[in-house]
Amino acid sequence: MVREVIGVLGGWRTRTADAESPMAVNADLTGRRILDCTLGGGGHSAALLAAGADVTGVDRDPAAIAQASARLKEFAEAGRFRSMLANYADLAAVAAAGDATFEGILLDLGVSSHQFDDEARGFSFRAGAPLDMRMSRAATTAESADNGPEIASVRSPDRSPSAAEWLNESSESEIAAALRDYGDERRAARMAAEIIRRRANKPFAISDDLVGAVRAVLGPRSGPPDFARIFQAVRIAVNDELGGLARALPALRDRLASSGVIGVITYHSGEDRLVKHAFREWSRSCTCPPRQPFCICGGDNALGDVVTRKAVVAAADEIVRNARARSAKLRAWRRRAGRRTSPGK
Ligand SMILES: C[S@@+](CC[C@H](N)C(=O)[O-])C[C@H]1O[C@@H](n2cnc3c(N)ncnc32)[C@H](O)[C@@H]1O
Repeated sequence: MVREVIGVLGGWRTRTADAESPMAVNADLTGRRILDCTLGGGGHSAALLAAGADVTGVDRDPAAIAQASARLKEFAEAGRFRSMLANYADLAAVAAAGDATFEGILLDLGVSSHQFDDEARGFSFRAGAPLDMRMSRAATTAESADNGPEIASVRSPDRSPSAAEWLNESSESEIAAALRDYGDERRAARMAAEIIRRRANKPFAISDDLVGAVRAVLGPRSGPPDFARIFQAVRIAVNDELGGLARALPALRDRLASSGVIGVITYHSGEDRLVKHAFREWSRSCTCPPRQPFCICGGDNALGDVVTRKAVVAAADEIVRNARARSAKLRAWRRRAGRRTSPGK
């Protein structure tokens, strides 16, 4: 969704960015400061830099920081790109992030193809893969070993349990809630009970252990789409993805410059709901309690406006090239000119 992102972030200057056809916006980002909170392989950052923006890229994964920094080296040398190893939810605690504001902020949530394709990271259900799934863990495979010295010297400050630790140590109700809420699993309670039963005999260590528990509950006809849903649920829980997003959204909103735009690409209904509700809430003119019989707040409290009336989805040609884009939804919100979003801003 690179064109769409450039479209909504590039439309920050106009009040009429055409949400349903964001590519129509003439995006000249020269000199604009953009915060890419999910740098990943640097694809979006590269396009933003090519459109003239200055980019600060953040990722919690040391391997992503090393790979994207190598790719964007020429822009770093020109003083237009810098990278930061951090969890975007904890940016306020990162001294190097200071209290800078940005004309555009981007979150492209979830896991990158680099992370998914690296078997040692344990995001996939390929037989024998370790149950890891931590986004903040440095990569160890031969492919990323090209960047070995750089990656090895960077230790992520952001620690999550591995998927195996999470499956072996969480309570039955925690596991059931994650499978239900993040994996849309109807038999979440039975699956959690099966995981507890199995781990008492042999702790979970590799993908086969989790696939075995899924099969035992869903039956022999279960297959890759079921495994993908359950692995996604565990990944979201291990990395506290929804908790981090909920914490980050208001903090990032307060980093928007006047008329700045925040764009978020989600891949899961829980993420999309959080973003949609936050944007709607920030755009409310009247902030009186729902039962208040008449307005006493003055009705002029909207901090900004939703840019994308409906979520923008990937174009058909992108879905052909990248199946993951099928579930992508882009929403954007613009801070009103001169409107304070929090005291002191
Ligand atoms: C879908 S990929 C981003 C791909 C990127 N937009 C590109 O064009 O290459 C998501 C990235 O966000 C990172 N990430 C996820 N949650 C994060 C968080 N809370 N803080 C910082 N980075 C995070 C992941 O490590 C991953 O590299």
